[in-house]
Amino acid sequence: MSGVVYLNDNYVAENEAKVSVFDRGFLFADGVYEVIPVYNGKILFLKEHLARLQKNLDLINIKYLINFLDWQNICNKLITNNGLDRPLYIQITRGNENRRNHDYSDDIKPTIVAYSLPPITLGNCLTAKSINVMTFPDNRWNHCDVKSIALLGNILLRQIGKKNGCDEVLLTRSNGFIVEGTTSNYFIVKNNKVITPPLSSDLLPGITRQIIIELCKSNNIDFAQENILLEDILNCDEIWLSSSTKELTSVVRVNNTVINNGQPGPFWHRIANLYINNIKQILNG
Ligand SMILES: Cc1ncc(COP(=O)(O)O)c(C=O)c1O
Repeated sequence: MSGVVYLNDNYVAENEAKVSVFDRGFLFADGVYEVIPVYNGKILFLKEHLARLQKNLDLINIKYLINFLDWQNICNKLITNNGLDRPLYIQITRGNENRRNHDYSDDIKPTIVAYSLPPITLGNCLTAKSINVMTFPDNRWNHCDVKSIALLGNILLRQIGKKNGCDEVLLTRSNGFIVEGTTSNYFIVKNNKVITPPLSSDLLPGITRQIIIELCKSNNIDFAQENILLEDILNCDEIWLSSSTKELTSVVRVNNTVINNGQPGPFWHRIANLYINNIKQILNG
């Protein structure tokens, strides 16, 4: 998909956007990223995404201060040039010192890239097919709260799902807690209560997850953050995934267990609609 790429203060054509082979992003996956939804030219939850990006930069000691207005301008330029419904991808790596050393200088200049992803449609999840997922031991590192570009763990786990006919893999830490998917957070419903795992270094603090929690609270839906085991999932009434681009995806099979007779459940229906309506209101507001 063609378009303009923002690269270190310049806007360049996609085929001219080049980064050194010595960039630490290329050498070590030493960087962080964000994916920000855009609908009809409007950026969704930009403050929240930039705040998470800043937190991640700080966590891995990349010295770069995000200026909200500058980034709003960059995002709007990309949207104007590339399309009104294309989510934005931002990647900041530690930069390039023309060598391959694990250690780095404190004054290294980060490499900053942003571009538009393929278009998405708001409310897609309401008509999308429900999916099958499987569980698998989580062999990623111990800082899964960092939105790192080092996604090898996620990629290999996701591929195991694909080979087994599953669209997502839910990851089990060594203590038995199932923390998140390879590209999503998740919620279960049991006895009319919506439950998601509490935040920890084992999972990404999803922006969509947070919005759903707020919607549960403001609509008096019984909600808790609790650790979840495989048996809780296999005995749940509903399970769904959340992410910025996929919204709320209903799951109807986990491993060999069919959930809710293979149909999306009433809580998913209600909360997915609340979520989409909430976004529509934000976009119109
Ligand atoms: C591992 C992981 N967990 C959770 C999420 C959901 O986060 P968000 O709702 O901010 O898109 C993502 C999104 O890409 C992810 O990669």
